[in-house]
Amino acid sequence: MAISRLQPLFLLLLLRAFTSLPTQAAARGGQDPSEDGGHGSFSRNLLEDKPRITEEMARGYMSNAELETAIHAFGSRCSNISRVYSIGKSVNHFPLWVIEISDKPREREAEPAFKFIGNVHGDEPVGREVLMRLANWLCDNYLKDPLATLIVENIHLHILPAMNPDGFTLRWRGNANNIDLNRDFPDQFFSVNNDVNHRQPETKAIMDWVKQEHFTASASLHGGALVANYPWDGTRDTGKRYYGCPDDKIFKHMASVYSQSHYNMSLSKEFEGGITNGAFWYPIYGGMQDWNYIHGGCFELTLEISDTKWPKAAELPVIWEHNRMSMLNLLASLIKSGVHGRIFAADTGRPIPGSVMIMGIDSKVSAGRTFGDYHRIVAPVVASMRGFRSKSTRIVLEQDQAVSLDFILDPDGTREQMKLPQNDWGCHCNNHKLFHIHESHLWMYLLTMSLLLTLYVLFKRKMASRLLTYRIYSPRRPVAV
Ligand SMILES: *[C@@H]1O[C@H](CO)[C@@H](O)[C@H](O)[C@H]1NC(C)=O
Ligand SMILES: *[C@@H]1O[C@H](CO)[C@@H](O)[C@H](O)[C@H]1NC(C)=O
Ligand SMILES: [Zn+2]
Repeated sequence: MAISRLQPLFLLLLLRAFTSLPTQAAARGGQDPSEDGGHGSFSRNLLEDKPRITEEMARGYMSNAELETAIHAFGSRCSNISRVYSIGKSVNHFPLWVIEISDKPREREAEPAFKFIGNVHGDEPVGREVLMRLANWLCDNYLKDPLATLIVENIHLHILPAMNPDGFTLRWRGNANNIDLNRDFPDQFFSVNNDVNHRQPETKAIMDWVKQEHFTASASLHGGALVANYPWDGTRDTGKRYYGCPDDKIFKHMASVYSQSHYNMSLSKEFEGGITNGAFWYPIYGGMQDWNYIHGGCFELTLEISDTKWPKAAELPVIWEHNRMSMLNLLASLIKSGVHGRIFAADTGRPIPGSVMIMGIDSKVSAGRTFGDYHRIVAPVVASMRGFRSKSTRIVLEQDQAVSLDFILDPDGTREQMKLPQNDWGCHCNNHKLFHIHESHLWMYLLTMSLLLTLYVLFKRKMASRLLTYRIYSPRRPVAV
């Protein structure tokens, strides 16, 4: 057993010795090859990770106990738009506290969920500080600032300020077992992390969380560089080159939303536009980002938000300011673009957890169990579910405009043989409420249609021919149907 498990690792290490090593000692992140004897970024146990963070440097940063207090203080101060919960415990039994922010934080809604994770690496503490500032900013500006209000009302935002509190206390990269958590996830190419018994509790907590919450997108925060990194993080043969996932375009777009909204990330001399494909920068294996996309349908970015891993605490307010619009715009882009809708069974009228797929893109996004809601960045889409005939549609999307699109699928007659997943929120699914929600969508369509019709009639004389040209030839100038 052990031999077949380890073979890929040996092969990898061998290959690694011959491939060029990354020059950056980065965050996401490889260790400096000069530090770990040339094993590159793959070794699970960090061979040498000397604590170099002095008490002086740590001054001004919240300790874990202070962070915990701040999280609970936030929870009571902003209790009507937040909920505090824990997704598990670290090796040294510190709770992994999460703040959920939403106008209905204790309820499930047919809305996209987003997660921010900070302090994945113990010696990269900027994320945990910035995330607390984000939470507080949203709370302070809800119903005052339109962007804050938009986010609170349309997204369920989950913030885990510290994924690796033990590493923070130890002032090193890995967790208390000195394992790099961003190498501990099951990998698509190599099986070294497949043994559940060796999985770290922090990793397990994230994996369970992702399976439970139906996140649409997410980002983890790191330090040591200034760039928005997107999948894939690794290549099959460990070669260092651009290796895009099926949703490459969408990821580039997401990463650009972040870098372009940042104070100066997009001005990077090292990374064009301030974004990079992970494997192009340097391949890593067992990372959290690729696992999220593959197993959670969650579009995750890895954000390097400060050149220095552990800057002086006095710089934190400036770093937060530099990242504020990026974080807010990334969240807003979830609502302001893409296709959102629900999938229903025609016979029962109940929401079903089918999946949607964009023609030509080899990846599926599944709908939520409770409401059958899906949130997909861009179109055309096909809704499908085993036991139902698939339905497809064609829509043209305007940039920065979201489209709402529900599907009602007809059973194809094979459904008796399969057990439909039970809706775990029965009380919310009484038919009255269900059709009420659906009816409101119908009204929205009718309203949009009549609006379009009126516009058309109004401009018919002058613009008829031009409008037609637009509809047919210009992909940017769309008509939503
Ligand atoms: C939260 O509290 C504020 C201030 O009391 C109130 O204006 C607002 O409507 C509340 N929001 C929600 C979602 O309950
Ligand atoms: C961005 O600004 C920071 C702070 O002023 C500076 O240290 C960093 O070098 C700048 N980076 C780029 C890519 O311009
Ligand atoms: Zn990192």
